[in-house]
Amino acid sequence: MRFGQRVFLRPVEKSAGYWYKSLLQLQASTRTLIMTLPQSRRLDFSEIPILDVGSLVAGDDDPTLINALHRACADVGFLYVRNHGVSMALVETLKESAATFFAAPVAEKMKIVIDPRIQGYLPLGYRSYEGENRAGTSHQEGFWIGHDRPLNSDALLDGPNQWPDGQPHLRRAMLLYFDAVESLARVLMRGFALALGLDEHRFADFFKKPLTRLKVNHYPPQNTPTADNDIGVVPHSDSGGFTILWQDNCGGLEIQNKNGEWVGAPPLEETFVINLGNIMQIWSNGRFSSTPHRVINRSNRDRYSIPLFVNPSADIGIRPLIDFDSNHSTTFNYGTYQRDLWRQTFPVAKIPA
Ligand SMILES: [Fe+2]
Repeated sequence: MRFGQRVFLRPVEKSAGYWYKSLLQLQASTRTLIMTLPQSRRLDFSEIPILDVGSLVAGDDDPTLINALHRACADVGFLYVRNHGVSMALVETLKESAATFFAAPVAEKMKIVIDPRIQGYLPLGYRSYEGENRAGTSHQEGFWIGHDRPLNSDALLDGPNQWPDGQPHLRRAMLLYFDAVESLARVLMRGFALALGLDEHRFADFFKKPLTRLKVNHYPPQNTPTADNDIGVVPHSDSGGFTILWQDNCGGLEIQNKNGEWVGAPPLEETFVINLGNIMQIWSNGRFSSTPHRVINRSNRDRYSIPLFVNPSADIGIRPLIDFDSNHSTTFNYGTYQRDLWRQTFPVAKIPA
């Protein structure tokens, strides 16, 4: 059974409920990392839940909302949130600044080409290579920032952000947006913990020095895609904790249900799309789903989106937080895992082996 573009699942144990063993083969030149991933119980959904998270933002624990959050995370792995507390003016300002940046000549943008820390400009039409059977070209360009940190030989994914010359508005807009949406991330973290029956602060320790990345995306129109390895973003599941996505009104995001059908996640005003990543699926021991998705911009217009990839600290060990069974699962280092995945997904970043 195929799971996204990076994780291969096959059943090995029925006795432990949802346990499946996966092989995540990260083919660095010197090693292959093998990890286990519990299978999610994602259903044959056709619609994505829309949740008003106002009470969670206010610090309340509304059991109805927490239950709905659990169902969305378990059955779909995607949800919309409204009443999230983030100003839409911040979003619009960043979208406009990003559009200006992407309209610059390629040579200008390439001056800040993406570095081995995944910070900088990701060129249009980048090619992912994840083995002979899994290579793809994504018709997307992006610009990434992370938490601005000095280079550190002990923390290979830390480094200073790169910024384009003469575009202070982009820098200002990205930093304001990063701050605001990372606050929302902390709210959602608390919700996920409560939904899993964990202490509400259970996730906080994992995000003390996060590898969170903010990215702005531009997708040129693509009306006649012929293969799913040659589209806006090729099918994949997100690698980290979870993602908070703003998308414009072009549409094009699709998510895959358990039957393999692609289900549209259309734009809804004043919402963010939330989806869980592989690490949250592992933390939740398969109760929550890291669901494959893709983007095809058939709108005849330039599409813009803004994902915040909420990723834990590089130095933490990842293992299920619920019903951990050392016979069926191992603990692995998040930073190594993330770096190996980024190396395969973004060869243009030239992450050393
Ligand atoms: Fe994604």
